[in-house]
This record gives sequence, structure tokens and C-alpha cells, in this order.
Amino acid sequence: MRPLTIPDLFARRSIRRYTQEPVTEEQVTTLLQAAMAAPSANNRQPWAFIVVTDQAKREALAEGHPYAKMLPTVPVCIVPCGVPTGNDTFWVEDLSAATENILLAATALGLGSVWCGVYPNMARVAEARQILGIPEGAVPFCYIAIGHGDEPKESRTQYDVARVHRNAW
Ligand SMILES: Cc1cc2nc3c(=O)[nH]c(=O)nc-3n(C[C@H](O)[C@H](O)[C@H](O)COP(=O)(O)O)c2cc1C
Repeated sequence: MRPLTIPDLFARRSIRRYTQEPVTEEQVTTLLQAAMAAPSANNRQPWAFIVVTDQAKREALAEGHPYAKMLPTVPVCIVPCGVPTGNDTFWVEDLSAATENILLAATALGLGSVWCGVYPNMARVAEARQILGIPEGAVPFCYIAIGHGDEPKESRTQYDVARVHRNAW
């Protein structure tokens, strides 16, 4: 496994076209290890992850989401779910950190990926709950499509000095 590098941060792009090449179980495990290495408030780790390889389920997820039409074409979709406890006000930030770790790890593995937003769109949350049998205490956060990319995208930063303030706004 090669280390994650600063150039990987710039190479991570949303990929929406994929080849048929499979993703290995070892790669999926690496992506999940990366997810669970993310920081979380009070280290609560308020998350669970559904690995969706089933074709019919990926088709159903795509059906209910207007911007996730790539899902039937990828070998794997990971669905990070929030599992917040009583006063857990930071679970969305925690899930965002875990999601970004998956995207960056995919880039380092030479895989393409895209984050498709689910929460807080409650219609999409309800759809995902029904298709994946997610219980009330858990909240589907997003769909991450993962596969071998079939569209070239340039590395880039969107660095904009006008958005940077020093010491005060
Ligand atoms: C919260 C969130 C929700 C997103 N939802 C979708 C989506 O539903 N479908 C999609 O194709 N891309 C989605 N994206 C990807 C963005 O469109 C993409 O990150 C943005 O256009 C910048 O492009 P880049 O990822 O290549 O840098 C989402 C990104 C975020 C952070």
C-alpha cells in the first residue's frame, strides 16, 4: 500500500464514469480502515458503513436519487451511516470526515469515487432506509460510488487567496 500524499489531495475528483473492472475485497477493507481512522468529536465514532455490491440494490438507490445515476455502473457503493447518541451534536461533521477519508484513500489506491449527498434530504434518507433496511437509530449519510474511473480529470487546487483572512476577517 503506498502512502497518501499531498498530490493525492489535488488528484481527488468526483468521477462519474467507470470501467467494468472490479474492486477487490482488500481494497474495500482499506477504504473502511481509512474511514474509521477519521477524527470524531470526543472520539465517539458515531458511524456504521454499509457496503453495497448487490446490483439490484445499487439500481434501486440510483432510482431514488436524481444525482446518483452512476451507482448501477460501479462495483461498490459504500453508505456511511450516522449512529448518533443522545447529545451527539457533531455526528454530521464526524461522518463528513469519514467520507472524505474514503475518497482520499480511493484516490491513493488508484480508484475513482464520488460523494452523493443523502442526509439532510429526508426523502433520500427514507428511500435509503427502505432499500437497505436501516433501523431508526441510524441515518444514511451519503452514497459513495467507487470503481475504476473512465474519465480523465485533472488534479487541481481551487486555492483562492481572496478567501483567506489573517488574524481577523
Ligand atoms: C455534500 C456533497 C454532496 C454531493 N452530492 C453529489 C451528488 O449527489 N451527485 C454527484 O454527482 N456529486 C455530488 N457531489 C460532488 C460535487 O458535485 C463535487 O465535489 C464538486 O462539483 C467539486 O468537484 P470535485 O469533487 O471533482 O472536486 C457532492 C459533494 C458533496 C460535498
